[in-house]
Amino acid sequence: MDPKRPFTRRDFVKTTGGAAVGASLLPLAASAAESSVGKKRRYAIVGTGDRGSKMWGRPVRENYSDLIDFVGLCDINPKRAASAAKWLGVTCPTFTSFDEMCDKVKPNLLMVTTVDAFHHEYIVKALDRGIDVMTEKPMVIDETQCQAVLDAEKRNNRKIVVTFNYRFSPKHQKIKEILMSGAIGKVKSVDFHWYLDTTHGADYFRRWHRLREKSGSLWVHKATHHFDLINWWLDADPVEVVAKGDLGFYGKNNSFRHTHCRPCPYKKECKFYWDITQDPEMVARYVNNEDADGYLRDGCVWKEDINIFDTMGALVSYSNGATMTYSLNTYMPIEGYRLAFNGDKGRLEIRDWERQPWEVTEESSIDIIPNFGKPEHVPMPKADSGHGGGDSRLQELIFRKPANVPAHLALPGSRAGALACLTGIAARKSVDEKKAVKIADIIKL
Ligand SMILES: NC(=O)c1ccc[n+]([C@@H]2O[C@H](COP(=O)([O-])OP(=O)(O)OC[C@H]3O[C@@H](n4cnc5c(N)ncnc54)[C@H](O)[C@@H]3O)[C@@H](O)[C@H]2O)c1
Repeated sequence: MDPKRPFTRRDFVKTTGGAAVGASLLPLAASAAESSVGKKRRYAIVGTGDRGSKMWGRPVRENYSDLIDFVGLCDINPKRAASAAKWLGVTCPTFTSFDEMCDKVKPNLLMVTTVDAFHHEYIVKALDRGIDVMTEKPMVIDETQCQAVLDAEKRNNRKIVVTFNYRFSPKHQKIKEILMSGAIGKVKSVDFHWYLDTTHGADYFRRWHRLREKSGSLWVHKATHHFDLINWWLDADPVEVVAKGDLGFYGKNNSFRHTHCRPCPYKKECKFYWDITQDPEMVARYVNNEDADGYLRDGCVWKEDINIFDTMGALVSYSNGATMTYSLNTYMPIEGYRLAFNGDKGRLEIRDWERQPWEVTEESSIDIIPNFGKPEHVPMPKADSGHGGGDSRLQELIFRKPANVPAHLALPGSRAGALACLTGIAARKSVDEKKAVKIADIIKL
């Protein structure tokens, strides 16, 4: 996104089209009218790392200061919170205690961007304090946390927003529109294969994500994005999951290892050696704050404590009778996905090209192939912001609240957040227990 030209309401409507529907779940949401009488949202962030800073921090300060006042930043690492405030360009106080932050600066809108395992704690506390809450995906990492969030919403009669940015990229919206048009009839099955490469995929194994107690495993942390897309595209709920998973590449599968890259004696021979000191932003965000919490951002991908899967496959069945064959692989020479919807009138084929060792002319290619008749290649515009253009559109929808947003682009709430996580939680359970797992047996929604 061009920082000098933030994504506008007109852009949003132009790329989404459609009828007027109230899109926000946030009851006190700011509007131009509110801001003109000086009623800005009192905005706080808990978890001031990469996402808290780069998606929900600086761009919000730059593009929505007419609607939002930053009143507090909270993180268990006090040095990271302080360096985030500086990087964001805000002067609000920073805290290590969430309760102290709420008592002192009284936010009325909270963004939760901590390590996944702690989202539920802050969602529940904020709801109990009457604060509007948005959370990054995954909403939760297990069914107990899921129940706690749903219960907190119920007892406080409030709804949270789960910031599923992938839904808001133009290519994903186009897929939704094609499916809604009936061009391929009723979808009977889906083939969905996501490839993470030796750069992006490996990065999950360097960080806290490598521990299932922090991330719920990539079945939850990463696949949540994909499972939400499928639930939304199919307009259906997951019913049952049978899955396999393996840790066959990273972790224990190497002859050498160290704590992290900087002091590593195997720098020369390790294909995954990464010099974090070459990136000043990474140094400011992580390296300079290591002494406060011991967190090593350039952790070794061969560490023996890694307990997530790097190779995953599942068969998921849905409430509309469709099934999906899904896979997620994390050490590929390419980054992107292959996706196809098989309908009773034809097939919708998508190939997403994020990174590959050759030039491509399109970032994603979409073809509608009717069972009988002429195939159609659907041209796609290039993404104009992070995550396929989803990030800026989601921010605009949340903060600016444009009119004329179609119903299928309403902000996702806890039900969507839960169903996406629960697909991953069921997959993880299925691998562990070597059996098919029904979502209804994990939690009653
Ligand atoms: N939607 C997306 O595309 C997308 C992309 C990246 C990350 N995310 C999500 O954003 C969240 C943050 O990820 P990140 O990449 O910024 O990670 P990060 O490690 O850069 O930041 C996490 C921050 O949380 C802090 N933290 C850890 N435990 C805490 C606790 N108990 N209380 C308060 N703070 C705590 C850490 O100190 C750190 O500053 C994750 O939930 C992740 O899934 C979403």
